[in-house]
Amino acid sequence: MSQDSFAHRKKKIRRKRSRDRFIFEKYGRTQLVGICTATPFATPWVSAEHMLSRALRSAVRLGSRLSSVSGPCPDRIVTVKWDDGGRGEFPLIWLRDTSPDAQTYTMSAAMKARNLTMNEFDVEQSAQKVWMDAEKDEVLVEWASGLLSRYPSEWLRLRNLSCEKAKSRRRQVYLFPETTWGKDEIEKRLKRFDHQKMMQDGKTLHDFLEAVCLDGIAVLEGASRGKRGAVEDIGKRIGLIRQTHFGIVFEVSTKADASNMAYASNGGLPFHTDFPSLSHPPELQMLHMLQSADEGGNSLFVDGFHVAELLRKEQPEVFETLTHYSMEFIEEGYDVHEIGAESRRFDYDMCARHKVIRTNDSEKSKKIYRAMKTFTDYCYQPRNVLKIRLNDGDTVLWANTRLLHTRDAFRNAPGKSRTLTGCYFDWDFIKSRVRFLRDEHQLPQNQPSA
Ligand SMILES: [Fe+2]
Repeated sequence: MSQDSFAHRKKKIRRKRSRDRFIFEKYGRTQLVGICTATPFATPWVSAEHMLSRALRSAVRLGSRLSSVSGPCPDRIVTVKWDDGGRGEFPLIWLRDTSPDAQTYTMSAAMKARNLTMNEFDVEQSAQKVWMDAEKDEVLVEWASGLLSRYPSEWLRLRNLSCEKAKSRRRQVYLFPETTWGKDEIEKRLKRFDHQKMMQDGKTLHDFLEAVCLDGIAVLEGASRGKRGAVEDIGKRIGLIRQTHFGIVFEVSTKADASNMAYASNGGLPFHTDFPSLSHPPELQMLHMLQSADEGGNSLFVDGFHVAELLRKEQPEVFETLTHYSMEFIEEGYDVHEIGAESRRFDYDMCARHKVIRTNDSEKSKKIYRAMKTFTDYCYQPRNVLKIRLNDGDTVLWANTRLLHTRDAFRNAPGKSRTLTGCYFDWDFIKSRVRFLRDEHQLPQNQPSA
């Protein structure tokens, strides 16, 4: 770090962390995405008369009316049919759990909260009566407690557990399932947006963030060259920046007493993700080019999820090894921050993943190292690598826990130092911002719930 970078703090790492261990973190993330996909049907509230996108309506063929309702049969399933031939099977207890009524949920402009808690929830409760109101196009359930629940036809269609289209659409709306890529695919579809337009136009901001959700990466171009503050501006536009011990916004340039390989030399770096030693690594990273190198210094990315899928097909033993074992990530060191002109030292011993490899098992160790080497080799295969050059004023935002990144070697112009500024984000805030923008601008991808 040069004297002009990280001006408010200094960082030294006494012991360097092991380098190649990020791969298990990547595979852990792959698996976590799979686990998350089970949740979207739990959202109970919907404003059935509004907020429905055309795309969502057509995806689940909304518009047809209820034709019949029957049950609950002995296995406690209520069967609903629509006049276009659609059919849904809804577990009785699920209907009680998600009942959109004021006894079960408090819904106001400021809050949607569940009143019914699991500790008082009777999972064996039964219904007195289940019937259909054809005029209002609703299914009604009268519970043993006397509560009357009403389920509008569209509400049921959107949550039809039996309909693959409805499930798929809701996952797209809520979870943004990523579209993985190799070099050829991402070179064709990498999305680039105008910085000024993104700062002023909500639709452009939406499209930029949505591209990051799906492709894991997108680029902003055309900010004022050399202007410090661009990262803060974008951060405010998006929402909360994820702070780390690098600070809220950090600066990267070569320095004599570097504490990190990124600042140590002008040489190339290995592919990596940032902060694998944290229990919760920042999920996205953004870098803004203040001053580009005279030669080289290109940004390189590889989609770790794509590489994982390649390994699953082409090297199943390697895939199995990398997804089977957990490893420790440990980084020890300290930061010195200058806060209010006063130096404060923060020691840290960061450790993520508490399962460890028994290193006295030499066969297992060899197997794991070979697998890590294969994963790394795959990352460097030209078919997998996206190479882009950030010009002064360009910004790239990418998924830190999906894409691995690096830069190639560079040469500075005389008297100039390649300098970037950046920050981190987490998915929750990015995706929340996307949903808010979809709602605000009534975009076709808008989610059905208010
Ligand atoms: Fe990095």
